[in-house]
Amino acid sequence: MCGIVGYIGTKQAAPIILDGLSKLEYRGYDSAGMAIYDGGKINITKSVGRLKVLENLTHGGETMPGICGIGHTRWATHGVPSDTNAHPHFNADETITVVHNGIIENYLHLRQMLSDKGYKFVSETDTEVLAHLLDYYYKGNPMEAVTKVLHRVEGSYALGILFADCPDQIFAARKDSPLVVGQNGDGCFIASDVPAILKYTRKVYYVDNQEVVRLRADHMHFYSVDEEEMTKEPVTIEWDANAAEKAGYEHFMLKEMYEQPKTVTDTLLPRIKGRDIVIEELNMSDEELNAINKIHIVACGSAYHAGVTGKYVIEGLARIPVEVDLASEFRYRNPILEEGAMVIVISQSGETADTLAALRESKARGFKVLGIVNVVGSSIAREADNVMYTWAGPEIAVATTKAYSAQLVALYLLAMKFGRARGKIDDKTFASLLGDLKRLPNQIEMLLNNKLKIQKFANRYIGAKDVFFIGRGIDYAISLEGSLKLKEISYIHSEAYAAGELKHGTISLIEEGTLVAAVSTQPDLYAKTISNMVEVKARGAFVLAVTCEENKEIEKAADYVIYIPETNPYFTNSLAIIPLQLFGYYVAVGKGCDVDKPRNLAKSVTVE
Ligand code: F6R
Repeated sequence: MCGIVGYIGTKQAAPIILDGLSKLEYRGYDSAGMAIYDGGKINITKSVGRLKVLENLTHGGETMPGICGIGHTRWATHGVPSDTNAHPHFNADETITVVHNGIIENYLHLRQMLSDKGYKFVSETDTEVLAHLLDYYYKGNPMEAVTKVLHRVEGSYALGILFADCPDQIFAARKDSPLVVGQNGDGCFIASDVPAILKYTRKVYYVDNQEVVRLRADHMHFYSVDEEEMTKEPVTIEWDANAAEKAGYEHFMLKEMYEQPKTVTDTLLPRIKGRDIVIEELNMSDEELNAINKIHIVACGSAYHAGVTGKYVIEGLARIPVEVDLASEFRYRNPILEEGAMVIVISQSGETADTLAALRESKARGFKVLGIVNVVGSSIAREADNVMYTWAGPEIAVATTKAYSAQLVALYLLAMKFGRARGKIDDKTFASLLGDLKRLPNQIEMLLNNKLKIQKFANRYIGAKDVFFIGRGIDYAISLEGSLKLKEISYIHSEAYAAGELKHGTISLIEEGTLVAAVSTQPDLYAKTISNMVEVKARGAFVLAVTCEENKEIEKAADYVIYIPETNPYFTNSLAIIPLQLFGYYVAVGKGCDVDKPRNLAKSVTVE
C-alpha cells in the first residue's frame, strides 16, 4: 500500500527520500510525490506513475534543494491515480503539507464542514481534508494543530506533516497504519516501513497508536495525542540490509522462492530440541494445551491458505476441531468463541487491517491470541498475546512465497506440539514426523532445481485464458495457493476447486485444451482424484498432475506429471507448492508481467 518517507538533517533531503521510497516500491503504488522546504517555502513535485517519473522530474532529487522533506508513494483509495490526487497535499496558501497512509473514514463530513467555512478542495482524496483541517486549527502552535486534528479524524493514518512556519521540524503521527522513526548522526527519519531507512539506521522506534513525534535534525520527541511527552525504547533491526536487495536474481519473487529452504530451516530448527518440539513463545503448559477444545485460525489471502492447510494438519495430528476464517468475514460475523477456544492469527506483514481487527475482536472478548507473524515489531506482533515468528526475513515481492512456506511449517510445529501434549501422537510417529520435517528444506531445494522443466511447461501456457486447480483435503489447500499465485502475477483467470466439487457446476467451464492442474499428494485420495481428472479430460482438459513419486498410476490419467519427493502426507503442501509457485512465476515472466509489483496489488493491505 502507500509508503511514507521523511527526512530532516544536514544532508539534501530529496535524494534520501527518493532512495527510501524506492525501498517501499514493492508495497504497490500508482503515483509518487515529495514536499521539500527550500529555505523560504515548501515545494511539491508529484506525478502519477512509477517513482522513476518523479526521479526524472527532479533529476534524482537534485532540483529540489532543502534539508527537510516528506515523500509518498500512493496506492489509490479515494480518487483515481492522478497527479492531483497524488500526495503530498497542501493547504490553500501552501504553508502546510501532509502525506498520509490509511483512510480517513469521516472525511466526507469534515470536507463538508471545511467547505462551509470556505475551504476549496482540489483533489478527490480523503487526505486533502487533513491539510485544510490542520490549517483550520493552526494558530501558531503546530503541535496543538496536529493533536486537534487527530481528535477530529476517524479511521486509520500514518502521517508526515510539514509547516512552513516551523521548517526545522517534521511532525509524524499514527493510528492503525504502521510508522517508524529513526535517527543517525546526519538526521532523523520517518518511514512507513523499516526497509526505507535501514540503510541509514538500524535503531528504530515503532510509533504506537495515537502517538505524535516531533522530529528535528538532531533529536526526536514523542507525545501522546494529549500532548504529554513520553519516552520510548528503540528497537535494533537485525536484518541483513542485503536481504532487501535482489542479489543477482531477475526478480525478488525468484530470489525469495530460492530462499525457501533457508526460511523453512530457520523457522523449524530453533524449535526442534533433540527429539522434542519446544515453542517457548506459546507460553502454555501441556495442561493448558490439553484444555484447548477448539482453534480459530484467522487470516487473509495466502496466509488464509496456510491456515486451511493448518486445519487439516492440526485436526489430523492433534484431533482438535479447527475453524478457519477470512479475517474480513470473521470481524463482522459475530463469531462464536467459547471457553477453551484458542485464536491464531497469521500474517506476514503483521499489518493487515482485517487480521488486526480480528485479533482485537478476539482480545476484546477475552480470548488470548497467538500471532504467527513475519515482521518483527509489526502491529499484530505487538498486540498479540504471544507471537511465533516465521523467520523468513524481509519479503519484498508482492506475491508471497517464502513467508507462506514458513507459515506452513510453523503450523506443522504447532500441530505436532498439540498432538504430543494431548497424547494423540505416539513416540514412533512423532520421531518419524520430526525426521520428515527436517528433510523438507533439502527436498524443497531439489524441487527448485527442477525449475527448467517447469519453465518449459509454463511457456506453453502464457496464452491461457482460464486455468483450474483441483485437489482434495490438503491438496485443495495447495490448489488454493497455487491458483492465487498464478492469477495474481500473470493475470490469467484461475480458480481452485475441491476436486469433488467441480462437477457441481464449474465443470461446464472446461473446454478443449483448458489446463487443469490436479494436485494429488494424499495416498488415501489418489484414486478419487484420478476419477476427477478423468472427468475433466473427457471434456477436453489438458491435465497437469502434481503428485508423489509412488503414484505412477496417475500417468494413465494425466498429460504431464510433476513428482514431489516422499514425505509425510501432512507435510506435502510444503513440497507441492514449489512447482506451482514456479509455474505461476514463469507464466508471468513469459507474458512480460511486472512480477514483483503486480497491478492493483499492495504488499501489506492496511485498509479494510
Ligand atoms: C498473496 C499475498 C496476499 C497476502 C495477504 C495477507 O501472494 O501475499 O494474499 O497473503 O494480503 O497478508 P499478510 O500475510 O501480510 O497478512
